[in-house]
Formats: sequence, C-alpha cells, structure tokens
Amino acid sequence: MQDLDEFTVTDEALRQMANTENPRLKEIMDSAVRHLHAFARDVNLTPEEWLQGLQFLTAVGQACTPIRQEFILLADVLGLSAVVNALHDKKARELGSQSSLLGPFFREGAPELPLGAQIVEKPTEPEIVVYGRVTDNDGSPLPNALIQIWQTSERGLYDMQERNGESMDMRGNFRTDADGRYHFRTVRPLGYSIPMDGPVGAMVHLQNRHGFRPSHIHCLIGADGHRELVTALYFGDDPNIDSDTVFGVSQTLVVEAKDDPASPIPGLRAVHYDFRLAKAAPGESGRVGADPTKLMKAAE
Ligand code: BEZ
Ligand code: FE
Repeated sequence: MQDLDEFTVTDEALRQMANTENPRLKEIMDSAVRHLHAFARDVNLTPEEWLQGLQFLTAVGQACTPIRQEFILLADVLGLSAVVNALHDKKARELGSQSSLLGPFFREGAPELPLGAQIVEKPTEPEIVVYGRVTDNDGSPLPNALIQIWQTSERGLYDMQERNGESMDMRGNFRTDADGRYHFRTVRPLGYSIPMDGPVGAMVHLQNRHGFRPSHIHCLIGADGHRELVTALYFGDDPNIDSDTVFGVSQTLVVEAKDDPASPIPGLRAVHYDFRLAKAAPGESGRVGADPTKLMKAAE
C-alpha cells in the first residue's frame, strides 16, 4: 500500500476511475479531477475554505426552484457558459451568426404569433419593430424557421420575475415567411441586474461587480437541417455594453433602433438583423442552458 500525498492522490484517483466504460465520461471526469486537484494545490486550499465552498454550492442548489436556475447563473457569471458557447461556435461546419447565452429565463411553449404581432401585453413605452431574414450560410432564405423571442419589460424584469411564473409575457414564437423574412413589434427592454438575492449574487457583490446585463432581446432560431442558433441582440447605447456580467456580448450582435425607410412597419423605429444558420451535423443542437422548469423535472 502506498501512502498518498497531495500529488500521488491524483494518480490514484485516475487509476480507480480507469475502467469507466463511456470514453467521453472518462475523458471529462479525468480532466475534472486533474484540474480540481491542481486548483486545490495552487491556492493551498484550507479545510475551512473547502467547507465554505461546499456550503456555497449547497446554497446554490437550494436556491433552485422550477422558475429559477441558480447553477446556470453561476456558470454564466464565471464565464463558463461563454467559454462553452465559443467552443460550440468553433465546432460549426460553417460560419453562422454568432451565438450568445441562453440564460436562465428561456421557457418553452411561448405563444406562436403571426408576423408583425406585438409580444408585450401592455406596452408603456414607444413600440419598436425588429425585422430581417433568416438564411443559410449562402444567403438562401429559410422559410418556416421557428424564431423564439424573449426579453425583459421596459422595467428590466422577465415575466417569471414580474408574474412569478404564472403567465407568459414579453415572449413570442414566429415562423419566417416564404422568403425567410420575419418581423415583430416589441418595446425596448431595459438592461437589468442578474438575480442578486441568492448565493451567486452574494459572490458577485464580494467581487465588487455591478451585476448588470446590457439591454437585449433573446432569440432561439431553428430550421430543419440547420444548427439551432441561440443568440441575443444587444442595444449598443446601453451603459453596460462593455461590461456584461455574464460575458454574452459580441460586436456582431450589437444593434440600434433607428428610423429606417425599409422598416416593415412605417413610423416605428426599427432594429434590422439578418440571422445566418449553419448546416447541422446529425443530432446537433446549439443550446447552452435550458428551460429551467425542465431542468428541475429532470433532477426529480
Ligand atoms: C439573461 O440574459 O437572461 C441572463 C443570462 C445570464 C444570467 C442571467 C440572465
Ligand atoms: Fe436576458
């Protein structure tokens, strides 16, 4: 029997896991163990800090409810979701529109609305129109693509926060027309603070970060034979456009609502954005994150 020290315990843990049948599970767990052990050695982790870390993760789990996913939030504020997105984009067979975070507020089953419909039940700010086309990477239109939209209100809250998950608002699903065109009405969402009243918010406070996301509209776009695109459009004049707490903004996703003679609804300021979907490999999805109500059910 060998006495294990802080280095040889890593080899022994890898040895005991060596018979894992699923090769991808083995690859992921081997690497996780190597990096976790190296991390503990790197910071010289004390037993008290180790317990604090476990308490923190326990609190993150306890903060999860059917309409709140604190673990997604944790991955987001640590930049891990953004890393996974960037890796996913690199794996594409061809270049589509850039992806961005799904975040914890996506919900399946939003109402399917006719093109041009308003997604906000009672708008209190001037309406805007968002329009454009969904094409493949060569610019050919993708008719009947499903565009799922969700955003905060003019007050910077999602329906799950304003209505406690009881009914949907500021969401809508649309189908592109025969030319791949779409348009819908909305109001400009307000940038907002990520939920700061849980353990992840406490950590963000300790890091002296502001906790805000710049104003944005989420889009999840799917068309047969193409990679699902999870992305968001960010309003460039938001004061936090360069310091998103969850690292979701990229240059190609920044938009402006402006007077636009080509707008499909004359008189409304318009955001124009054309989405390009890359061809899919079999069984491929673009998602990072999920409908939080589904994650809770899967864990039961
Ligand atoms: C969101 O954009 O909905 C979001 C993303 C990450 C954390 C919190 C919110
Ligand atoms: Fe959001």
